[in-house]
Formats: sequence, C-alpha cells, structure tokens
Amino acid sequence: MSVKLNSCYSLKGPMIVLALLFIHVLWSHLIYYTILIYAVMNMPNLLNIQQLSYVYHTMQGETLAIKDISFTVSKGQFISIVGPSGCGKSTLLSLISGLLAPSAGQIVIDQSILENLKYAIGYMLQKDHLFEWRSVYENVLLGLEIAHVKTPENIAYVEELLEKYELKDFKKYRPSQLSGGMRQRVALIRTLALKPDLLLLDEPFSALDYQTRLNVADDMYNIIKKEGKTALLVTHDIAEAISMADEVIVLSKRPANIKASFSITLETEDRTPLKSRADHSFSSYFNQIWRELNDVPSTT
Ligand SMILES: Nc1ncnc2c1ncn2[C@@H]1O[C@H](COP(=O)(O)OP(=O)(O)OP(=O)(O)O)[C@@H](O)[C@H]1O
Ligand SMILES: [Mg+2]
Repeated sequence: MSVKLNSCYSLKGPMIVLALLFIHVLWSHLIYYTILIYAVMNMPNLLNIQQLSYVYHTMQGETLAIKDISFTVSKGQFISIVGPSGCGKSTLLSLISGLLAPSAGQIVIDQSILENLKYAIGYMLQKDHLFEWRSVYENVLLGLEIAHVKTPENIAYVEELLEKYELKDFKKYRPSQLSGGMRQRVALIRTLALKPDLLLLDEPFSALDYQTRLNVADDMYNIIKKEGKTALLVTHDIAEAISMADEVIVLSKRPANIKASFSITLETEDRTPLKSRADHSFSSYFNQIWRELNDVPSTT
C-alpha cells in the first residue's frame, strides 16, 4: 500500500511541474503575441496604396499592367514582392517612386516623405548603373550633385558609409575594377546618400552569382536595418524574398493583383537573411509561396 502511495506521489510532482511549465509557456506566448499584434497595429504607415491600377498606352494598343492593388507599408518594414515575369512588379515600383502616375486608385504617402519627396524615395534598379568614367567616390556623390545637396554634412555621411561598408580604400577605383558585390554596395550607398526613408529595390542581386548574392543580400539587409530604412524588394527568388522580409506579397500574372500575402515570423534571434534560411518555419513559408506562384491548390 505504502509503495503504491509513494509511486503515486512521485508521479504527481513532475506532472504538476509539467502542467505549470505548459501554462507558463502558453501564457508567455499569449502575452508575446498580444504585444506583437499591438505593436504591428500601431506602427505608423509610411505608404498606403489604394486600389491602384495602371495601363500602358502604346501605338500597338493598351496594356493593363496593374489592377486594383491595395496594401500598406509601415515605417521600418521590409516587404518582398514576388510574381511571374512580366506581371507588373517594376511598374508597381515606378508608380510608388512617382516615375509613373496611377491610371486609377491612389498612393498615399506619409507627410514626412511628401515634404521631402525629391530625396525621400531611393530607387535602386536591377542594373547598378554606375558610370565607368567616374570613380567610386564620384559615383556615390552623383545623387547629391544632381540634387544640389553636396553639403559637408552629406559628404561626411557618404564617407561614413564607405568606411562602414569596406569601400573606403576603393574610392579612387573605377567601377570595372570592383567585384559584382562591391558594385552593388556602391550603388546602394549612392542611393542611401540622399537619406531616403523608403527604398525601392528592383531585383538588386540578379546580376550576381549565387554565393555573392547570399553575402550581398546579408550586407544590404544589415545596412538597411542599421540605417532604419523601410524597403520594398522585388525578386524572383522565393528564398531571398522570405529571408529578408517581414511580409511577402505574391502577385498574380498580368495584370498584377495581390494573390496572397504572408507575414513572416521567424524565431531566429538577431535575424539576418543567412540565419533566416535555417529557421524551422522557412521551408513551410517557401512551400506556401511556391504553391501560390504556381497555382498549386493547398493540401491543408
Ligand atoms: N514602357 C512600357 N510600355 C508599354 N508596355 C510596358 C512598358 N513597360 C512595361 N510594359 C508592359 O507591362 C507589363 C508589366 O511589365 P513590368 O516591367 O512591370 O513587369 P515585371 O513584373 O517587372 O517583369 P520582370 O519580372 O520580367 O521584370 C508587361 O506586359 C510589359 O510588356
Ligand atoms: Mg521588372
């Protein structure tokens, strides 16, 4: 009898500890997600895109590139946009940058950006567009020269970026004397020189080989996060999109429309694109986005 009682008591203890642990984990998760949702809901919106459509008019006819797209971008958020080739991704970035005017709908931009619209949006195209007849230093200063804001303060900021991102010793080099990754960093610093609040990145790594691409993506992500920028990245690479973003937007075939959007929550601490790829939720996001892009019905 006493033996029975003892074994009963010896089981009860760990069960209670396990139950308490379970309640503790559940409770802390509940608190964590409540705070996260509250924080996300209260993040100020930098961009509010409402029912945006765009039609190209050419001699050959009309092309509806964007159809009824709506989404918001919060300050500090990193959004990746994926979609089939020719669906309208670059058109969307050109509309946000102000290079094109919407055919319908509107883009509401935060007041802080509107006041300084000329410099507040940095648009980095697929090609780095560095000028061979200018040195690295002259290339990174180009934006400041064009905007007539080559002030000592802005020059000092560019110098700081060149030093921070290991390009200081290459200031006098020509673009052709740099590696692909270094060129991309130069192009990014040239874009950052004007201190834009919002960065539009159109396939910025597509010219690079896979290994360089991974490293440059890591570098760029760190620069963007350290400088506190908001970014929209267009890419064909699903893994790249997930590894960098807080949210991935999947566009349909042309005319581009939002098919799905995925909020990316990873448990990896001190997140970087490379570390994110090892997160246990990564492949699940990859499969879901791949299915959306390829019109494969969900199995769940
Ligand atoms: N200047 C233009 N004049 C007429 N049609 C255009 C123009 N630019 C793009 N288009 C058309 O608009 C559609 C969307 O083009 P866009 O460049 O935005 O696609 P994309 O998603 O960026 O493609 P990719 O992934 O290949 O870069 C395409 O059908 C394209 O032919
Ligand atoms: Mg494009």
